Amino acid sequence: MIPIHVQSRDLSTVLDGIRNWKNLAGFIVTVPHKTSIIPLLDEVTEAARIVGAVNAVRRDDGGRLIGHILDGAGFVAGLRQEGISIEGRSVYLAGAGGAASAIAFALAQAGVARLTIANRTLERCSDLVARLRQVHHDVRSEVGSIDPAGHDIVVNATSMGLKENDPFPLDVARLMPNQIVAEIIMQPEVTPLLAAAAKAGCRTHPGWPMLQCQLKLMADWMGANPERVDDSAVPASRKRENI
Ligand code: ATR
Repeated sequence: MIPIHVQSRDLSTVLDGIRNWKNLAGFIVTVPHKTSIIPLLDEVTEAARIVGAVNAVRRDDGGRLIGHILDGAGFVAGLRQEGISIEGRSVYLAGAGGAASAIAFALAQAGVARLTIANRTLERCSDLVARLRQVHHDVRSEVGSIDPAGHDIVVNATSMGLKENDPFPLDVARLMPNQIVAEIIMQPEVTPLLAAAAKAGCRTHPGWPMLQCQLKLMADWMGANPERVDDSAVPASRKRENI
């Protein structure tokens, strides 16, 4: 993988260059471009459209860029890999950005009973809850506060914890020992949230499995097997044979 550092104002120009990059199979998209890249792509999958974010882009032979979202599938697979069951659980999710949206839809699809979402920008949070309710009628989706109490699984899907002096994404004083606290931040592996959760007696789940569980899916999407695309964010009623 070659890291490409792109400022928001330059994203469109960089994508135009990438369209002409003849031996490129695709690329991974990360913060802060997962949502804003959508209108700049030539096509997105149904899963990416529903979630409203893209993190894996395939470049076809004609130079067209096709976006897909795999964060949610990776996160759910990461939990399952550790034997953490999702069905019927109540989940508190901090964040309402691209990664958080992907995770919210994948958790709903995986059968959570209740999903409480909290975010610094309330409007983004209400919008995500409204979109979830439209697609997943059987999941109790609600806007929450910074208090994660009363949920089985607590997830940080904000970028808080990436930098050393970031504030906590939620009220850690309200964590209870029976909760599982999961991260999406990979560096540092033990974020201040995970350290506080361990101190509170919670089981912790680090950020790296979300990416590790996506690697095969990303390789499939970018060339090896694009027809075997993961569509776990798409409800069964909306699945199409070809994306
Ligand atoms: P990604 O695509 O990686 O999810 P994103 O869409 O930019 O990135 O989302 C980042 C998330 O971290 C959002 O939930 C964001 O909250 P806002 O919607 O209010 O921006 C959250 N976040 C980023 N900086 C934050 C901060 N200083 N305090 C609290 N939340 C923050």
